[in-house]
Amino acid sequence: MFKILRKTELAPDIWEMEVAAPQIAQKARPGQFVVAMADERGERIPLTIADFTPDAGSITLVVMVVGTSTVKLSRLGEGDKLYALIGPLGHASRIEPCQAVAMVAGGVGAAPVYPIARAFHQQGSRVITIQGARHKALLFWTDRLASVSQQHQVTTDDGSAGHKGLVTETLKEVLAADTQKQIGCVYAIGPTPMMEFCAKTTEPFGVKTVVSLNSIMVDGTGMCGGCRVEVGGRTFFTCIDGPEFDGHQVNWELLTARQKTYRHQENCAFEKTLNTRTG
Ligand SMILES: Cc1cc2nc3c(=O)[nH]c(=O)nc-3n(C[C@H](O)[C@H](O)[C@H](O)COP(=O)(O)OP(=O)(O)OC[C@H]3O[C@@H](n4cnc5c(N)ncnc54)[C@H](O)[C@@H]3O)c2cc1C
Ligand code: FES
Repeated sequence: MFKILRKTELAPDIWEMEVAAPQIAQKARPGQFVVAMADERGERIPLTIADFTPDAGSITLVVMVVGTSTVKLSRLGEGDKLYALIGPLGHASRIEPCQAVAMVAGGVGAAPVYPIARAFHQQGSRVITIQGARHKALLFWTDRLASVSQQHQVTTDDGSAGHKGLVTETLKEVLAADTQKQIGCVYAIGPTPMMEFCAKTTEPFGVKTVVSLNSIMVDGTGMCGGCRVEVGGRTFFTCIDGPEFDGHQVNWELLTARQKTYRHQENCAFEKTLNTRTG
């Protein structure tokens, strides 16, 4: 079970893995995630189901290497098996009827954005995607995103591809050009600061803004409270109440602080893992 059927390097330290998981593939919906363990002693980490093929009995994960567990996953090859894979978890995205939707994908956020954009595209909404990365080498799935979008715009911080600048600048232009108010919803998925600033950008336009929060998770089943976030002054657990929330209501300061809780331990563990050949 959970055999890696295909593994591709999409960009430096970003891997796409197609994994055999027939039951998860049957039930998966856009916006949901799995909790994966690379090996018996590994920690449980959340990863979005970036694609799913019920007929083939497989799901696609995109993993960006940032620490111990993601480096362990990246060291597995085709034919290897994940020790555990639990899911689908979390609520699926609400694909509400709307004339147009703007999807902002920052960095590895291109992976979770894709199935949601495809679902809006399939229901007949006009999809505008804004895909941003620091540098062109870090862009991936641009063709896939373009294939489910009427309008697909690329931005890079250094101008190596597309528009030079931040996704928020392009988002502001897109919303300002929408004089007939056809865009019923903005999705922003990527690094926490990007999601926060996308939400701040959309606020004056009064457009509903959905973000997918990447809080630290432990069990992924609502038992530990590790993933708690504050939204609209109330406490929620990202794993069972999310991962999608109203970006205008999120307490970004608290989320950012909580993400740094174990930074020292994570850095020490990462260094140790990098110094071992097999993790
Ligand atoms: C619902 C959900 C879906 C996710 N989907 C994906 C995905 O599809 N692909 C992907 O590559 N990653 C995804 N993530 C993030 C991924 O789970 C973390 O990057 C991973 O747990 C880091 O584990 P690590 O041991 O490699 O790094 P750690 O040593 O745990 O952390 C290394 C660095 O990454 C930061 N970090 C740790 N956990 C998170 C987190 N949850 N979000 C952001 N930064 C974090 C730490 O603060 C630290 O700076 C998702 C997270 C959530 C909550
Ligand atoms: S990860 Fe434990 S409650 Fe959400």
